[in-house]
Formats: sequence, C-alpha cells, structure tokens
Amino acid sequence: MTGWTPAMMWARRGPRLLLLHLLAFRDNNELMKFAQRMFRLGTETAFEVLARARQLESQGRRMVHLQIGEPDFNTPDHIVEAAIKALREGWHHYSPSAGLLPLRQAIAEDVSATRGIAVDPDQVVVTPGGKPIIFFTLLALVEAGDEVIYPNPGFPIYESMIRFTGGTPVPAPLREELDFRMDVDEVLRLISNRTKMIILNSPNNPTGSVLSPSDLERLAAGVSRTGVTLFSDEIYRRIVYEGDAPSIASVRNLQGRTVILDGFSKTYAMTGWRLGYGVFPSAALAAHITRLMVNSNSCTAAFTQLAGIAALKGDQTPCQKMVETFHTRRDRVVQLLNQIPGVSCRAPRGAFYVFPNVSLFGRKSDELAGMLLNEAGVAVLSGAAFGQYGEGFLRLSYATSIELLEEGIGKMADALGKLNRS
Ligand SMILES: Cc1ncc(COP(=O)(O)O)c(C=O)c1O
Repeated sequence: MTGWTPAMMWARRGPRLLLLHLLAFRDNNELMKFAQRMFRLGTETAFEVLARARQLESQGRRMVHLQIGEPDFNTPDHIVEAAIKALREGWHHYSPSAGLLPLRQAIAEDVSATRGIAVDPDQVVVTPGGKPIIFFTLLALVEAGDEVIYPNPGFPIYESMIRFTGGTPVPAPLREELDFRMDVDEVLRLISNRTKMIILNSPNNPTGSVLSPSDLERLAAGVSRTGVTLFSDEIYRRIVYEGDAPSIASVRNLQGRTVILDGFSKTYAMTGWRLGYGVFPSAALAAHITRLMVNSNSCTAAFTQLAGIAALKGDQTPCQKMVETFHTRRDRVVQLLNQIPGVSCRAPRGAFYVFPNVSLFGRKSDELAGMLLNEAGVAVLSGAAFGQYGEGFLRLSYATSIELLEEGIGKMADALGKLNRS
C-alpha cells in the first residue's frame, strides 16, 4: 500500500463507501418501516432530563439534580457482600425463569407477613426490576380495546404500556384537594363493561400520596361484583412517614384478583441491580408471566437474587435509617417550597417526591421545568410528564442531601421570583 495518497485511496474506495451510505440511509428512511405499535410507546422524561442536565454539566454549568427517582444511598453492605459471595461461589449461570426457589420462598414469607395474606412461592415471579411486572401483566391480561384505569398523574410507564399492549388507558385524576389520593367514587364511576384492570400505586409516584384503609374498603366494596383485576404497585411501600401504606391485597375478598408489584430498587437502594417481583393471584397467571420471562430475559441474574435473600432476611436498620433521613428532608423541602411566593406544596405521606403547585405562574409546567433547568441550573420534572392531570405542578425528588436541596430550592425561588404571578 506504500505510495497510496489519501486522494488515491478515496478514488479507489470512495464510490463503494458512498453507495453503502446511501443504502443505509434509504434503509432507515424508506425500506425499514417501523411497526405501528412503536408509535404507541411512551417514555420516562426523567431519563431525558438527566441527559440534558449532563450535557449542560459537560459545558461547565453547575446543576442541582432534583429529578432523580432513586435513593441517593448505597446498597447496604451486607447485601453487597452476599452478591460478592455468590459470585465467588460460582453463581454465574442461567437460573430458573420464575426466580430461585429460596428467593421466591423468602418473598412469599415477607408478603404473607406484611400483607396478612397466604402466599405460595408458585405465585411469585422474580424479574429484572419491578418494571417488567407492569409490562408482563398487561401483556398477559389485556386484549385490544380493554380499558385500564390508572392514576394520573402517575408513573408514565402505565399509560405507555397500556397503549402498547392495545388497551385503552382511562385516567383516574389524583386531585390536590384529596391530597392526591384516588377519588374512589370517581374511579367506580369510570368502570364500564370494558374495564379489565385498575392500577393502584400507593405510595404514589409522583405525588407521594397514600391510599387510606377506608379508600381501599370502599374500592373493594365497589368492585366486588365486577370482574375487574386490581394491579397494586407497592414499590414504595416501605418508604412512608405517617403510619403504613395498606395494600388492597389485604382487603377481604380481593386477594384472589390482585397482582402485587414490589421489589428491591427503592427499599434497599438497589435500582441498578435490577431486582423486582410480582405476586400473582394464581399459579396459572404466574406461569404465563414466567413464559414471558422465558421469551424475553430467560432469567434474572442469580447473584442479585441471592443478594435479594440477604436483603429480605438481613438487618433492616439501614432501610429504616434511610426512611428517617427522607422524613427529615421531606419536612425541610415542604417548608422551603411553601416559603416561595406563588408556590404551594402539600406534605406527601410516602415515597421521596414532592409535587408543588406552580399554577399561579400561569405557564405550562413543561415551560417552567425547562426554564429551571436551562436558566437556573435546577433539574426538576414537569408535572405534565406524569399525565394531563399533572399540569400546573412540578415534581422534585428529595433523594439528595439537605445542602443540595436547599441550594436547588433557593435557585428555584430566585428564578420564579422574576416571573409574574396571576
Ligand atoms: C411507581 C413505580 N413503579 C415501578 C417502578 C419500577 O421500579 P424498578 O426500578 O424496580 O423497575 C418505579 C420506578 O421508578 C416507580 O416509580
């Protein structure tokens, strides 16, 4: 090849490269027709805001991250040690698709004890994070045209997955007047002969609301003569500040048609480990979910499952301390937000989010969140990213230090202070 100049190389290879590029371009734009279902798929804005905040940071801008949906603590040591031990012992291979039996037994015992119901390990399926339980349950139960009632504002994946699986999402508004709890009477009025499922999420993301025992009793009474399945997302169940977050599965007669989603991400600060589970009302439904696992993930990583056993059976003190820290921060954040003229914020009872009302500024939540990110250097999420009933609100996560919370809310106050209010 000696003696070849770049110009000679290009003359020799250029036309072929150009043709390949043209073909690739045509493939992407004309030949590769994406399946229609892809246009029904939503997303989680939190990941997009994180990417934009990182981009601004790479340009030297200081950012305060209040968009994060995960504990800022590390996973407790004894759980990490259990995973390391498992790896050293050779847990490197495929494992049963429904999850390792000892973990499913530990989950069944834990759920039986905490919800006061009988659970058999055959009803439990372990997945990489809690999220697949939403997808798999909807895939297994919802037919095209079936209606699914879901909390709005709510975790955006519900609406995305309902649409993707062919169902019709029916939003149940969470209103500030009710401390963002579902209005049970309204939910019961939304039930039609097409309703297949009602999704509950308590404590709720993004509002931190917790359903009361009376809400659950009234809902149970209302659905008792329907064939509706209840899907109870309890991923924040252990992060509560006033009393407990009761489960609909504990309410008489409902265990037989309630799916519980829970997992290790939030309770044990294990978001990156990807370890969650579903508890299904029958072994038959669990078997269908397991087949979805076989077809998608094969199994959840074995060493993370052994860490999960250590989490459930080991010392719970680190989790309790984490919740106490969140409690202190919640009080401070609510106090600071309520001091900003034009902002009002209810004290959430669970999870690690606040959902302040910013409607007095007369701007769209998206616009306010964008302005705070780009101009004030505070990453928060627009309430509208959680559904149309989130318009007029912002979501802030207090899974970060008090110092950063004070800095971020201080910057927010300065930026909002420059806007007109109605
Ligand atoms: C309400 C809700 N459900 C489920 C999940 C999914 O949790 P995981 O990270 O275990 O998949 C989240 C995560 O943010 C959530 O907020």
